Amino acid sequence: MENAAGRRVAVIDGPNLNLLGNREVRVYGTQTYAQIKAELQERAKSLGLELSHAQSNHEGEIIARIQALPAEGVAWLVINPGAYTHTSIAIRDALLAAQTPAIEVHLSNPYAREPFRHVSTISDIVKGRIMGLGVWGYILALEYIAGKVQNKKKKEDMP
Ligand code: DQA
Repeated sequence: MENAAGRRVAVIDGPNLNLLGNREVRVYGTQTYAQIKAELQERAKSLGLELSHAQSNHEGEIIARIQALPAEGVAWLVINPGAYTHTSIAIRDALLAAQTPAIEVHLSNPYAREPFRHVSTISDIVKGRIMGLGVWGYILALEYIAGKVQNKKKKEDMP
């Protein structure tokens, strides 16, 4: 029987992402956070993934969510830590402790923005990073994960 845990994916979004649709629309687009969540749920379902979605404006809450991942049997994490990307050693430490493979997503391209956004405290410990592609970043991350799950079943190799 297929292992449900292998298909379990968590999306964790950091501060101010709940404001999407109203926030700096020229940078982040007009789609609201509720619309994005609904779209990702739909995509995950069609890819055969089980998706949980969390957003918090509080660093400690994000850390608590990351800490809970192993016990929840989450196989993959898609994380956009928002501005904490550039500052949080605590989120980095939580990811190192959880050991859940993670994909870092940014709606905007931080390298095309202010220099303080060029630094990420997690870039070297994530499996990969997708940035500048808007909501497609999350969708592509889900597609990659679904591909990995498939390949595992087929016992094929994929980086
Ligand atoms: C962001 C980029 C960060 O620099 C910014 O602080 C955010 C969103 C992005 O998705 O493009 O809040 O992570």
